[in-house]
Amino acid sequence: MKTKSNPNNVGAAVIGLGRGRSHVSSYAVAENCDLIAVCDINEEKAKAIAEQYGCDYYTDYKEMLKRDDIDLVSVVTPSGMHSEMAVEVAKAGKHCLAEKPLDVTLEAIDAAIAAFDKYDKKLGCIFQNRLEPAVALTKQAVAEGRLGDLVVGNVMIKWYRNDDYYLANGGWRGTWKWDGGGSLMNQSVHTIDILQWIMGEPESVTAQIKVANHKIESEDIGCALVKFKNGAFGTITGSTATYPGFGTSIEIHGTKGGICVKDNQIVSWKIHNDDKEAMEAEEKKMIELTAKVKGSGANDPNAISQGTTFKQVQDMVDACRDEKRRPIIEGREGRNAVKLILGIYEAAKEDKKVVF
Ligand SMILES: NC(=O)c1ccc[n+]([C@@H]2O[C@H](COP(=O)([O-])OP(=O)(O)OC[C@H]3O[C@@H](n4cnc5c(N)ncnc54)[C@H](O)[C@@H]3O)[C@@H](O)[C@H]2O)c1
Repeated sequence: MKTKSNPNNVGAAVIGLGRGRSHVSSYAVAENCDLIAVCDINEEKAKAIAEQYGCDYYTDYKEMLKRDDIDLVSVVTPSGMHSEMAVEVAKAGKHCLAEKPLDVTLEAIDAAIAAFDKYDKKLGCIFQNRLEPAVALTKQAVAEGRLGDLVVGNVMIKWYRNDDYYLANGGWRGTWKWDGGGSLMNQSVHTIDILQWIMGEPESVTAQIKVANHKIESEDIGCALVKFKNGAFGTITGSTATYPGFGTSIEIHGTKGGICVKDNQIVSWKIHNDDKEAMEAEEKKMIELTAKVKGSGANDPNAISQGTTFKQVQDMVDACRDEKRRPIIEGREGRNAVKLILGIYEAAKEDKKVVF
């Protein structure tokens, strides 16, 4: 049986071993942390990963949660299972790092948030792209008012996934029940989260969705027009039907400047400065800073950057060790993007403007 190498270390466990492997490999190298166990209903998968990492394995997560040496649990199962599992994690007196989306309904998300409040444990929600330097720098520039008043934010997530992707692992992806939707709720949720994080709270939305190129229940293309409470507009295009995959763009414009980020690289950074040379020098510096960033996942889910996932996992471990420290992205933050996406679905299905 795996034991902690140091009693002060955080004992970590992971439920769900698809994307969950990135959590496993992160806990395995995180500081002040021991990977204690993994869990998957697919025993072969769980056993192989446990052997690879020298930890224990379970096929029943509730059995795993009985262990006293587990302090932090990642929930990385199909999205519609997150809240139910997270609530069990809280009841077992452990902290939780749940994958995006936190769940697929606001009721389920609220139940998870309430459980962690009740049991006084910490809940983090994975949105690793917020930690990408290009995104964090854009957020900072907007927060400092450097772009002036926000005018418009445009995001395009023009990805491609093949039929095998949707058929894999019981075909949960693209279902309303387990994926909560399609290209918007699963793939685009990261960038929609970033849009609302940078632009502010949405006031209303109109939208269209459809299935263009897959045999799935929910959408593989969605387009939305958002009005934010600060008066700015936003547009969202989120797809897994745009063959062969064209990447992710985030373009934020204000009265004093604009920033364009493509696949986590700054491609344009134009912020007004009376000194034109200084303005150009700043843009050059910002472009160089992120020029080597890789890993957009536009046409391959396995190409998603692992570096920022590790950062968020280490942050969660650190938050578990320090009573005063909160996770960098709290569970309640995970609610916002889902609220906006659910608004998009309602607007599209009922062909109306949804006011939040
Ligand atoms: N942050 C990111 O970049 C990122 C990338 C991919 C997926 N995800 C998220 O991760 C989650 C999982 O997606 P995925 O692509 O890994 O799916 P997947 O189907 O590849 O893996 C899910 C795993 O959960 C297991 N599982 C299902 N029910 C279980 C149960 N009751 N107990 C234990 N294990 C169970 C399955 O056997 C499977 O191995 C989703 O919420 C998805 O949105 C996030």
